[in-house]
This record gives sequence, structure tokens and C-alpha cells, in this order.
Amino acid sequence: MKVLVTGGAGYIGSHTVLSLLENNYEVIVYDSLVNSSIESLNRVEKLTGKKVEFIEGDICDKDKLSEVFEQFTIGAVIHFAALKAVGESAKIPLSYYQNNVYGTVCLLEVMEHNNVHDFIFSSSATVYGEENDVPYVETMKLGTPSSPYGASKVMVERVLNDLALSDSNFRGVSLRYFNPIGAHESGQIGEDPKGIPNNLLPYVAQVAVGKREKLSIFGDDYPTQDGSCERDYLHVMDLAQGHVAALDWLNRHNDFTGVEAFNLGTGNGVSVFAIVKAFEKAIDKTIPFEVSPRRAGDLPAFWANATKANEQLNWHAERNLTQMMSDTWRWQSSNPNGYLA
Ligand code: NAD
Ligand code: WQD
Repeated sequence: MKVLVTGGAGYIGSHTVLSLLENNYEVIVYDSLVNSSIESLNRVEKLTGKKVEFIEGDICDKDKLSEVFEQFTIGAVIHFAALKAVGESAKIPLSYYQNNVYGTVCLLEVMEHNNVHDFIFSSSATVYGEENDVPYVETMKLGTPSSPYGASKVMVERVLNDLALSDSNFRGVSLRYFNPIGAHESGQIGEDPKGIPNNLLPYVAQVAVGKREKLSIFGDDYPTQDGSCERDYLHVMDLAQGHVAALDWLNRHNDFTGVEAFNLGTGNGVSVFAIVKAFEKAIDKTIPFEVSPRRAGDLPAFWANATKANEQLNWHAERNLTQMMSDTWRWQSSNPNGYLA
């Protein structure tokens, strides 16, 4: 079966492409490379010994997307392509809504026109917003995220629900990722943020490799065990395998129509201080840090109830925190400048 993967050259996309190839799916990647490098896919090809069809294009370009659907017989779409920087989304909200919401609508229109109905969407724990108690469970109502980025994910989930109500052939899965970290165990592919990293692990890794002086820990006065925020960190290869599990689930459930949401997380909250300690232990080196003020919009703590994915997708996050840290380090230390090196 041929799977179209939008945003497949990016961090989660490249790991998922690798897992798909290892599970005998054929892959076509459609990516504008706005936040990634083609080198990630070259490396996936080397690691798997399989070919990745690549088309450079924007999801807002319906003509180009249409050509892809005409050229290939596509069985399903996994949709990663989006802008994802929370802070930036507050500065340029229109770009985020254009790219993440309008772009997704373009893709869905082209899919509908070509009678392709199976769709897996990169959603996020951020859709639970500030209203819901932890652990988050899929039966909770969609919340009100504090950023335009988060709002764009809620909007797309709404679009998918409305589409499913109007089109009895549509088969959608929203995968709500918690905090993906780590890298493929080879150290050949990993997260390669442009500029100063926004997320915790890439920042810690860049301090460890000497590219940044010290980590700022955003707040130690939260109502948590050690005062720092808690998140549900999961290994990116577990997350990648969650996509294969979702595709297998769609293929097993021929009579399914509608939209299903699944949380992909470990079910455990881990604090920022605990992450720093675990990283120090994995690399046997100290990470210099200072405690600085809270970051606007951060919630004190959230983690997943992942029972639905465990039971229905037969998926579990299997890799532990030690492996997440050592794989991050293997990637960062052998590629200090990411794919540019
Ligand atoms: P990423 O930036 O590494 O990957 C996104 C990819 O999409 C990039 O290769 C980029 O070039 C491409 N892209 C962006 N806009 C495009 C467009 N208009 N047309 C074509 N390609 C485009 O990010 P990632 O961390 O791999 O995230 C993948 C998806 O998962 C995103 O939808 C993101 O919102 C979602 N997500 C990420 C996280 C996380 O912590 N990384 C958590 C939850 C959800
Ligand atoms: C984790 C913790 C920070 C950087 C974001 C998005 C979310 C999802 C994943 C896409 C927080 C602390 C961070 C630093 C720090 N993305 N931190 N110093 O904020 O949980 O989630 O990425 O959907 O939508 O909001 O992840 O990695 O930015 O932060 O102390 O330099 O690390 O305060 O507690 P977050 P993160």
C-alpha cells in the first residue's frame, strides 16, 4: 500500500517514514522543506535500504497536490506538515492558520476529489487546553489552548469531525502526541531545530554539546513535586510506531467510518529537573542550568491516559527515559550541527 506522508522530512515524519518502510508500506513524502532537510530522507534510505519517493511542495498548493494524487495510487495519507513553534504562532498567527488549517483543508479537498478517505492527523496534547484535569483522556471535550498553534490543532480536529459527519466514506484518526523526544537508535536521524531550540530536550542536548552555555529552567514554583513542570515524554520511535499501529488499525477495520482520537504517551509525568538529571546520568556530564521565570502559557503538569491506544491499537510506549536520553545524545554528539554537518 502507498502512503502519502506530508511533512515526512521533518522530525517525527522522518522517523515514521523509516517505521513505515520497515513495515513494508511504500512511502511518498510531500514536504516544502520549510523546516527540514532532504538529508533526513537520504539517511532513512540508507538505514532501510529502501527508496523514498520525494516531492517538494506546499500543502497549500492544490494543483501540485492534485498532480501527486494523479501520479500515484495513494491508499492513505499521514499528515505531519505544519508549523509548530508555539511562541512564533502568537507573533504570526495568520501564517499558522494559513499553513496548518487552510493547508489541511486543501489536502482534504484533494483527497476527497481523488476518492482517498484514510487520513491520519498529527494532533497534540495541547488540544485539551487549560480546562481539562490530568491525566487527559480522549472522552474529554476539546479545550481552549493558549496559543494560535494549539488553536490550529483544535480547529483541524473540528474540521475532521464535520467532514466525517458530511462524508460517510471518511476514515480519520487524530493522534494526540504528548512530548516526543529522542532519536533513532542509530544516531543518524533526529531532531534538528533551526536557530535557538524552543523545546526542552534539543536545548539540553545543545548545552551538552557546547553549543549553548546553560539551560534556563522556566520556573521552579509550580504546584508539582519538585516545583518544575511535568510532561509526558515519549520516544520518537515509539511515536513513529504509533502511526504504523494506526494505519494497521484502519486496515483491520474495513467497516470503520468517522474520526477516532488516540492519545500517544507513556502515561507518566516527568519534571524538568528529572529530565536534566536523567540526561546528566546518560552522558556522565553536568548540564549547567539556572532557574528563570515561568514561560507564558506553560501548564504545570499534564500526561496521557493512553489506555485507548494500548487496547485498541495494540500500541505501548516501550522505550524508557534512559533510552530517550542516550539516543538524543547519540544523535546530537555525532551531528552537532544537525543535518548541515
Ligand atoms: P517538523 O517541523 O520537524 O516537521 C514538519 C514538516 O512539515 C517539516 O518537514 C516542514 O518542512 C513541513 N511543512 C511545514 N509546512 C508545510 C507546508 N505548508 N507544506 C509542506 N510541508 C510543510 O515538526 P515535527 O516535530 O516533526 O512535527 C510534525 C507534526 O506533529 C506537526 O504537525 C506538529 O504540529 C505535530 N506535533 C509535534 C509535536 C512535537 O513536540 N514535535 C507534538 C505534537 C504534535
Ligand atoms: C517542556 C518543559 C518548559 C525549554 C510544546 C508544545 C506542545 C507540543 C510539544 C506540539 C516545559 C520547560 C523548555 C527550556 C524549560 N508541540 N522548558 N527550558 O511546552 O510541553 O510542549 O511542545 O504540539 O504543543 O506546547 O514542551 O519542550 O517546550 O517544554 O524549562 O529551554 O520544559 O517550561 O515545562 P511543551 P517543551
